Amino acid sequence: MNELSKTGAGARTDTRAPNNLESFWMPYTANRSFKQAPRLYVGAKGMYYTTVDGRQVLDGTAGLWCVNAGHCNPRIVQAIQDQAAEMDYAPSFQMGHPKAFELASRVAQMLPGDLDHVFFASGGGSEAVDTALKIALAYQRQIGQGTRTRLIGRERGYHGTGFGGISVGGIVANRKAFGTLLTGVDHLRHTHDLGRNAYSRGLPQHGAELADDLERLVTLHDASTIAAVIVEPVAGSTGVLMPPQGYLQRLRQICDKHGILLIFDEVITGFGRLGTNFGADYFGVQPDMVTMAKGLTNAAVPAGAVGVRKHIYDAFMTGPEHMIELFHGYTYSAHPLAMAAGLATLDVYREEGLFQRVADLAPYWEQALHSLKGARHVIDIRNLGLIGAVELEPIAGKPTARAYDLFIKCFEKGVGIRTTGDIVALSPPFIIEKGEIDRIVETLRECLQTLD
Ligand SMILES: Cc1ncc(COP(=O)(O)O)c(C=O)c1O
Repeated sequence: MNELSKTGAGARTDTRAPNNLESFWMPYTANRSFKQAPRLYVGAKGMYYTTVDGRQVLDGTAGLWCVNAGHCNPRIVQAIQDQAAEMDYAPSFQMGHPKAFELASRVAQMLPGDLDHVFFASGGGSEAVDTALKIALAYQRQIGQGTRTRLIGRERGYHGTGFGGISVGGIVANRKAFGTLLTGVDHLRHTHDLGRNAYSRGLPQHGAELADDLERLVTLHDASTIAAVIVEPVAGSTGVLMPPQGYLQRLRQICDKHGILLIFDEVITGFGRLGTNFGADYFGVQPDMVTMAKGLTNAAVPAGAVGVRKHIYDAFMTGPEHMIELFHGYTYSAHPLAMAAGLATLDVYREEGLFQRVADLAPYWEQALHSLKGARHVIDIRNLGLIGAVELEPIAGKPTARAYDLFIKCFEKGVGIRTTGDIVALSPPFIIEKGEIDRIVETLRECLQTLD
């Protein structure tokens, strides 16, 4: 039975359109609504996607916060094509290939302080997070602190979809269906405070004291049971929450006081999103580990990684030298295509000065976004680097419906945005022009006007 006879579908007019939408169970998607009115991209270049019906859509979100250098950058495309022809795959278990070492050392040079070592995960951020959590636990055991088995996340945190990530994560919909998750996890309170901080430009003024919540957890569990704290320097998927001024610094101090590792999940803030290499640089806070993915390869090939401080790596380099030091890794750790894409991506960032471009554009971006204050349904606007959020008043009894409508309307007008809950999250590629920023904002303004 072929696919056409199985679905009973007739001949297709556009050969790029799929003949059968049923089989693909789409991730994080309202499958039934989507399949009634599919939105399909078939091409991408620079700031724009091309839809299956030939329309151009301005990419206001860099895919999923990941195509930082814009789509189909010729240098990255070429690097992947060349690598595929030269060597498709090489294992990283007891074998290696040069580009993995080259990319690791280039990333290590970009990371702040003595984050000198890089462990490559394969698929992306979720595996990077699991890797970091496992390294944290194993490290504590390695240095004779084996009672430190507890991991601390934060309410509203997003750390991907693995069991480790959803356990330390704090978005209820991502957790509630999946049983008891990892044991021994606890959460800091989130930092969202519209009452005190609505319409903050850049970092909100109030809330540094929320870092003291870690002291509360230390009092409850005792520091000797806590291995690590993981937070996003800027929380993205929950709807873009900037850290209050001084919050991350305070968290660092409390971690130091109690011998707790601090992990920054920089899957979205890594590689220039704030105008600096990493969020850690922007905030001037030194984490013990940094998770990254997305911008590492400009999303052209899936890859994730964890940057690790020297003393953590060194703690494992003991015992007989023929022995494996860390029993962890993936078939696709340091995949050659990902390494080639990563090296080309870092070249593009540097040669095109894209991180500086973010820093230069940030004030314009801030001004443009905050011009939406007073637009219909808007209750808050947030920005940092090339990140933006517009929070809407939810429709009573129908949370998310208003933002979803806005998303569809903007898409119909050729502007791609993302929504989470009733919050619009924006994170365009760094090559965006001022005129395109204006277009995103004006499209939002127009569409907001037409919403119920
Ligand atoms: C902060 C953070 N961590 C982890 C992830 C998970 O990454 P992935 O979807 O590549 O597994 C994401 C994805 O958006 C993220 O924003």
